[in-house]
Amino acid sequence: MFRLPHSIHRKYWFPITWTFLAILWYFSPKNILAQSELAPLQINTQGIKSLKSPNAMVSAPHPEAAQIGLDILKAGGNAMDAAIAVQFALAVCLPIAGNIGGGGFLVYWDQDSLQTLALDYRETAPANAHRDMYLNAKQEVIPKLSTEGILSVGVPGTVDGMYEAFLRKSKLRDWNRLVQPAIELARDGFRITAMQAKYLNDHQKKFSEINDWRTSFINKAGWKEGDLLVQSDLAQVLAHIRDDGRAGFYEGPISDLIIQEMKRRNGLITADDLRNYRSVWREPIRFDFRGYTFHSMPPPSSGGIALAQMFGLFDRLAPKTLEFQNVAYIHLLSEIERRAYADRNTHLGDPDFVKIPTESLLGKQHLDQMAASFDPQRATPSEQIHAWQGPESEETTHYNIVDAWGNSVAVTTTLNGAYGSKVVVRNAGFFLNNEMDDFSIKAGEPNLYGLIGGKSNEIQPNKRMLSSMTPTLVTKDQRCILALGTPGGSTIITSVFQVLLNVLYFGQDPYEAVTNPRFHHQWYPDAIQMETRLYQSPVVERLQKMGHQVFDRGFIGRMECIFRFPDGSLGGGADFRGDNGLLGY
Ligand code: DON
Repeated sequence: MFRLPHSIHRKYWFPITWTFLAILWYFSPKNILAQSELAPLQINTQGIKSLKSPNAMVSAPHPEAAQIGLDILKAGGNAMDAAIAVQFALAVCLPIAGNIGGGGFLVYWDQDSLQTLALDYRETAPANAHRDMYLNAKQEVIPKLSTEGILSVGVPGTVDGMYEAFLRKSKLRDWNRLVQPAIELARDGFRITAMQAKYLNDHQKKFSEINDWRTSFINKAGWKEGDLLVQSDLAQVLAHIRDDGRAGFYEGPISDLIIQEMKRRNGLITADDLRNYRSVWREPIRFDFRGYTFHSMPPPSSGGIALAQMFGLFDRLAPKTLEFQNVAYIHLLSEIERRAYADRNTHLGDPDFVKIPTESLLGKQHLDQMAASFDPQRATPSEQIHAWQGPESEETTHYNIVDAWGNSVAVTTTLNGAYGSKVVVRNAGFFLNNEMDDFSIKAGEPNLYGLIGGKSNEIQPNKRMLSSMTPTLVTKDQRCILALGTPGGSTIITSVFQVLLNVLYFGQDPYEAVTNPRFHHQWYPDAIQMETRLYQSPVVERLQKMGHQVFDRGFIGRMECIFRFPDGSLGGGADFRGDNGLLGY
């Protein structure tokens, strides 16, 4: 029989034992979500996974847009300059969500003043909108009216937002330079990715149904990867914006084209609505968690308040040790999320129209109360979760930029659904949003994202619809160390919550943090929605035994994230769920 010589035996005793123990631990039930149990990843078309750069970084959902952002940084622009150029570039090379016909939110860290700013360029309801505009005489919701076609359109905010951002924080002070690259991209065309070809093909019928003329998005032969998408009308519109700033969109010939489109289709937006649109600087929601300061978007986004509540609950409820994505972890986060969404859906709306009890919602007493009903062993049915009761009272996109000075920006911008209302402004070549669906169009009726809205978010003239978009920055020792955000409708807030924990609590690198599977709970429906890879793992059965309903939700979001390592360098992770442009220098 073969025997190891005694000396070798002793030498290998320790490693063999430890390997054996490690294997035991790896397959032990608590490590239920070992990577081996997850289906293999499908990596995005670019194949970029992660990037480390010493000075500056752009993380955007399309390579062309990221390149334009990087060029601006290298030309001496700051993060805000690059953000403006990237927003316009995305309006061209990401027609599904990038836009001038929609709106968004931006959170900016100013390294000079050590302050964060939040810019709200969310769409507004037209002055002629009214509470029941999507209901028939029997008070029933008229299908598709708030999600498709002209009546779903809110007054666009993007161009005003970018101009405001430029006036307040541009370093280059050269508006033309920021818009020009997008004009060239529209005029000369760009090569579409495989994912874009698929989405465009999926929507060909809808585009022709909704537009009775041939838009640049129609291709009779079908789109394929590498095809050139040229948008000459859009190039003209952008040239007006380049030459006349905000007025180039909200007044004059482009405003006329939008109004003609409204008249042709019996839409509500008037020339006054456009002229009167104003983006608003708001105080970010700030809160601390274990030595980090978070800065996120205040209402009309629900992101900042919900995120602050979730971290408050996590602080109260997380046990000393918590294993990544095991049953206890998914249960805890789902319970936290369902509680925060109860408040979100009930109390939040446009702060210029409804009084938002921010202090009470984030107050110690309320958070203690929310935490008290948590049962570590059992799901709490959503009907037992009640929002705070005080006295009377599928497509978005995200990008981040960090410049060499340390200024940092996180921007989430949207048309709401894929290609918004699908209405293309004739002779102007851009999609209008369908953001009106983010209002609660009828009490108790779920919207596109299954969210049930309350009175605080009902339609009123000129009001902003509640959003889940959560562009977020994290600072520590007077440096921005993390910028992140994602599309995903109602799942945005919980994705941001989970990726923040991935990085700051579990110490994952940016690639792991954005790649790991995600899950989501939003109070109603009373269920955990899970990415397929997680859904296919044994964790589901155990959660069901605890009383949770669980369903497969495919992919959740497309996270963009830039992280500053302790040595000062920057790291970005590309989310395989979308196309990516991750560049730095
Ligand atoms: O503002 C909101 O919450 C939604 N309009 C966002 C839409 C979205 O993220 C779609 N993306 N998949």
